[in-house]
Amino acid sequence: MKYTRIGIIGGGLMGREIASAFARWCALTDINVTPVLTAVADLNPAALEWFEKIPSCQLRTTDYHTLLASDTVDVVYVAVPHDQHEAIYIDVLSAGKDLLAEKPFGIDLPSARRILAAVETSGRFVRCSSEMPFFPGAQRAFEYASSGALGRVLEVVSGFHHSSDLDAAKPANWKRLSSKCGEGGALNDLGMHACHLPLRLGWKPSRLFAQLQKGYAQRPDGKGGMVACDTWDNALIHSWVRISGTDVPMRLEMKRLAPGATNTWFIEILGTDGGIRFSTAEPKTLWVFERNREQWWKRTELGFGTQFKTVTGGIFEPGFPDVIQQMWAAYLSEREGGLGTRFGCATPAEAVASHEIFSAALESERASKVVTLTP
Ligand SMILES: NC(=O)c1ccc[n+]([C@@H]2O[C@H](COP(=O)([O-])OP(=O)(O)OC[C@H]3O[C@@H](n4cnc5c(N)ncnc54)[C@H](O)[C@@H]3O)[C@@H](O)[C@H]2O)c1
Repeated sequence: MKYTRIGIIGGGLMGREIASAFARWCALTDINVTPVLTAVADLNPAALEWFEKIPSCQLRTTDYHTLLASDTVDVVYVAVPHDQHEAIYIDVLSAGKDLLAEKPFGIDLPSARRILAAVETSGRFVRCSSEMPFFPGAQRAFEYASSGALGRVLEVVSGFHHSSDLDAAKPANWKRLSSKCGEGGALNDLGMHACHLPLRLGWKPSRLFAQLQKGYAQRPDGKGGMVACDTWDNALIHSWVRISGTDVPMRLEMKRLAPGATNTWFIEILGTDGGIRFSTAEPKTLWVFERNREQWWKRTELGFGTQFKTVTGGIFEPGFPDVIQQMWAAYLSEREGGLGTRFGCATPAEAVASHEIFSAALESERASKVVTLTP
């Protein structure tokens, strides 16, 4: 067993989620690398306190430069607001560390391109966080779409919905401020989730038309006042992708105002001969379309068929913490050269491609026109 020492910059929602995925690494049964959390950096001392319960996490600092200077860290995971991605990711690379970077990989397209250039110059191993395709149902959708079983592809829908912004009384955080989340708003927040599988299938839009919607113009600031919220909350991207010589409609959906949804990632791909549907709203259910003289949507209960095997019984349901752990298993295995044919994490080039889509969507919204993307 090889042990890889990890430092986390940003000990908020995602920093804690990753730390707890490491803490139950014993669940994995077929992997020869184990992450050890050795360090955490967060500007907020209160955020650091939570990490006191992890005995291996000896370095807790409010200055991430101290973490980067430490020789107890091999790989850095960064989960901070988007306005800080570029500076911190480039500092990680300059410190000679490998990186698992949170999406959207820079606040906008120029920032993502500068990060990609720094990655290429550094030669470090870098991937972008996007865990939803590690659900067994998402993996099956990917394999099915790659297999040719669809026939001629007719239509693709890929999206991510939640409803966190429906409650007008919910205090604002940095994700509702363009200065910190980026002009893209929900595109930056949720877009990588919707784009990852289509991009891995080689389905990058050639043209698109976007409809973007804002949420409440102001929210409580959590201190008794109100704060202006200026980000896009919902995005519908109607695009065309070239698949086997045909232009196919592909809709990408990112919503923070989706009544009834809580972190629902979904994909549906329809073809002349077959079709496939998966949604995390039904985490172990896969729908496959078949036709003969009659037509069927067949429902399969998948259970816990993750690509890295675990102690969890095969009949149980997978969830968000499981796919976070699967994503890290893929990152660490690929870094060791041991991923094999398994599905890998989103690459820096895929992250830049997602930003090209978001940037075109913003341009489309501004001018209310169809925008052509560079191949
Ligand atoms: N993969 C996913 O499913 C997923 C889900 C949520 C968020 N995210 C992404 O993760 C990142 C962080 O989001 P979050 O929800 O964890 O945010 P959060 O606000 O909960 O946590 C961010 C933390 O970063 C700290 N921080 C800010 N600037 C810092 C600095 N210079 N040095 C050290 N710490 C600093 C803050 O104090 C805070 O504790 C974003 O890029 C977001 O898009 C990914």
